[in-house]
Amino acid sequence: MKTPRAFYKALAIGAPEPFKEPPLKLERMIHFVPPHNEKMRAKVPDIARQVDVVLGNLEDAIPADQKLNARRGFIEMAKATDFGSTGLWTRINCLNSPWVLDDVIEIVSEVGNKLDVIMLPKVEGPWDIHYLDQLLAQLEARHGVTRPIQIHAILETAEGVKNVDAIALASPRMHGMSLGPADLAASRGMKTTRVGGGHPDYAVLEDAKGDAARARYQQDLWHYTVAKMVDACLSAGIKPFYGPFGDFSDLAACEAQFRNAFLMGCLGAWSLHPTQIEIAKRVFSPDPGEVAFARKILDAMPDGTGAVMIDGKMQDDATWKQAKVIVDLARLVASKDPDLSARYGF
Ligand code: GLV
Ligand code: MG
Repeated sequence: MKTPRAFYKALAIGAPEPFKEPPLKLERMIHFVPPHNEKMRAKVPDIARQVDVVLGNLEDAIPADQKLNARRGFIEMAKATDFGSTGLWTRINCLNSPWVLDDVIEIVSEVGNKLDVIMLPKVEGPWDIHYLDQLLAQLEARHGVTRPIQIHAILETAEGVKNVDAIALASPRMHGMSLGPADLAASRGMKTTRVGGGHPDYAVLEDAKGDAARARYQQDLWHYTVAKMVDACLSAGIKPFYGPFGDFSDLAACEAQFRNAFLMGCLGAWSLHPTQIEIAKRVFSPDPGEVAFARKILDAMPDGTGAVMIDGKMQDDATWKQAKVIVDLARLVASKDPDLSARYGF
């Protein structure tokens, strides 16, 4: 294991110092753009004003014969667009692919100072993070990148889930991770053909009562993995996200999936379709009613200790801490969204 001092040392001479405290950013939706598509690229300045993060996708969903165009298209859109406070991310190809080395080398050399985060797919263990960490430091040093490019892992293999704690702690460059339910389903041998969401056959049956019809309750296929990911991330001080929801025709199911993730601790999800941007905005911004109640708790316990009753509910140090999570997030949302700021009463 590295010593604490070595952990926070730049991995190449001339590379920027790793973050001790990563930048505080609102990232309710990571919006996927296919950068080989010129029409989609033309919409990027407009999209950048609507979302918290724009991600140029180079990996799955980009055909093999378009991989180089996607990389070039990403570099072009990164150079051409003023992203303001909106994050700029890319999802590179996976580490055993023929494209990834040039993805990293070309993107960092051309737009390293504009890029916030590299999303790394199919992370199996800390060794994958260590490899990219070192390579990024070498390239940052070579190209005069002034602030560290962060790494966001996709949790989407059985081995990755087994090693999730070590992945979360692998480097100060770690931004967070997203659950990738499609690849994870395949890797685990799950018997599904979906990108996220539930399954009608994953259910429990009410106890039999004679011949009476028995209620069936669909269960959440992702509960265990989201919980495991949230604990790994929050204990390491990094950010957990739900990933993709593939059924664009079922907005209600998308909202339910995002909401479960939000309640369990996630800070955002991927938007793959414009309709999912609004869903993510609604779900990952705390509800004004909850914010009002949380503010009551903070006001009633100014130093965060003791016990008080509010609306018949007991409050103490622990509910004060929950309230603080909600109010801190609301303040971050309000800093970007004047509408919500007014509804929160800030
Ligand atoms: C995302 O990449 C997934 O596989 O779900
Ligand atoms: Mg995947």
